[in-house]
Amino acid sequence: MARTPIVAGNWKMHLGRTPAHELLTALRDSLAGIEGIDMAVCPPAPWIADAADVLRGTRIGVGAQNVYWEPHGAFTGEVSAAMLAGTVDYVIVGHSERRHVFGETDEQSGRKLRTVLDLGMQPMLAVGELREEREDGRTNDVLRRQLLAAFADIERLPEGFIVAYEPVWAIGTGLTATPEIAQLTCADIRGILAERFDAATAESCRIQYGGSANAENAASLVGQPDVDGLLVGGAALQAESFTKICQAAAAVAS
Ligand code: PGA
Repeated sequence: MARTPIVAGNWKMHLGRTPAHELLTALRDSLAGIEGIDMAVCPPAPWIADAADVLRGTRIGVGAQNVYWEPHGAFTGEVSAAMLAGTVDYVIVGHSERRHVFGETDEQSGRKLRTVLDLGMQPMLAVGELREEREDGRTNDVLRRQLLAAFADIERLPEGFIVAYEPVWAIGTGLTATPEIAQLTCADIRGILAERFDAATAESCRIQYGGSANAENAASLVGQPDVDGLLVGGAALQAESFTKICQAAAAVAS
């Protein structure tokens, strides 16, 4: 079964309201003719409603960068999945900056994942190893631990479930994983998904690569058989580079 690649832009904590609006408007036009892949932008939380307005009726989905699992309550500063449902299509869960800057645990990523799934949005479950973990040969163990913890209490995954493989050493560093490393690791992730669920589920899952993806390397990464799209940080902040990345992915997919 063919998987539809998904290219998503993670804007992180960048862009004020006016530049964010300008980028959304530019993408609405520049991505208009692109088919054969799914596309999404994940702006900072205060601009999510603007993104939903500007992108309504287009093929570009809107995602959130983070979420809290409780539906409402005294949780100052948090945004619940219930508040996002109906406005966003996607939610990034377990991004390495959540894990390593804000101390999010594997167990907390799992709670977020379940809430997002329960409310019918599509999670992008981000996993990835630190540089020293790769150098010590522990990449597979780390990914397995992150994935299995996130899937605690989950019986089945929806078709097309999205995992983002983001090696921490490649994020924001310019040290993109080689296509070979991306392929081998995404294939390992698919193997873990097959063990935890079943072969058909694993085959239907979309595994993005993320970490210094850009217009130059997009085609060679998405050209790998187990790489089903990209989660793009820095290069998603300009319409031109994000459009080139989407075009490259669409060309590979066609
Ligand atoms: P980067 O970020 O493309 O700037 O490396 C990717 C990410 O963190 O999702």
